[in-house]
Amino acid sequence: MSEFKIDALESLEIWTINGEARRNSINRGMVEELEKMLERVCSTRNVRAVVLTGAGEKAFCAGADLKERAKMSEAEVRAFLTTLRRLLRSLEACDCVFIAAINGLALGGGTEIALCCDLRVASSTAELGLPEVKLGIIPGGGGTQRLARLIGPARAKDLILTGRRVGAAEALNLGLINRVVPPAAVVGAAVELASQITANAPLAVAAAKRAVDLGLDLNLDAGLALEHQQYEVVLNSEDRLEGLRAFVEKRAPRFQGR
Ligand code: COA
Repeated sequence: MSEFKIDALESLEIWTINGEARRNSINRGMVEELEKMLERVCSTRNVRAVVLTGAGEKAFCAGADLKERAKMSEAEVRAFLTTLRRLLRSLEACDCVFIAAINGLALGGGTEIALCCDLRVASSTAELGLPEVKLGIIPGGGGTQRLARLIGPARAKDLILTGRRVGAAEALNLGLINRVVPPAAVVGAAVELASQITANAPLAVAAAKRAVDLGLDLNLDAGLALEHQQYEVVLNSEDRLEGLRAFVEKRAPRFQGR
């Protein structure tokens, strides 16, 4: 059985983790398949946005598959995490925009996957958390670094050191998620958000994503130089001229990604 259900809608895709019975927890097969899917969308320009969600209403992803993990040796856990870390990094670095549609619980690796996405839309019933310390480990898929960068160290430590879960309202208040919608609307709202993005100039969206992400670790002057560099990419594009023409002609632009 395939680990993901893929639905293609013009320039965006919906990837649904196909593991409702195990609360969409992350196993080896899922990591291998996700890596191949990422290679496909990152190496072509056909898919501009991906909405990532989980099957069923209970969980987006309940973290590592703890039943599989219980049978792994220490070396196997290390190898599994190396692959997971690599794939999460390539998801972040991809020109494609990723939106997590958090349809239920996101725990441990589930929250870490959501943190790698560009934007997060959650069901009002969703809960997020990094409960690793309750299991004698720490977040191993970038959670300590990405959560602290996203919501600040004090708020991140509140969640990581207690291991407590936060509901959608608190997560929104913390800046951990971007939108809260009723449970039945979560994928639709994420698709709508993705469509607003894919209507924009492809090179501009990719350059803006890079400018924000890569700039986060730089001082202001270096960040401004990075923005300048990314501006040069779009300044030289046909789509910039098309945007200006469309404005003057009072019509919607037809962007080509060139
Ligand atoms: N790995 C493997 N299987 C998992 C799982 C996980 N992370 N989370 C849930 N499952 C399985 C359960 O074992 C159960 O399987 P079973 O029917 O064969 O017994 C099934 O999913 C349903 O789980 P259940 O606990 O009955 O459902 P629930 O909706 O009431 O609770 C959770 C869901 C996610 C809150 C609970 O299962 C849980 O706490 N899971 C562990 C979460 C976790 O600590 N993840 C690791 C973070 S580092």
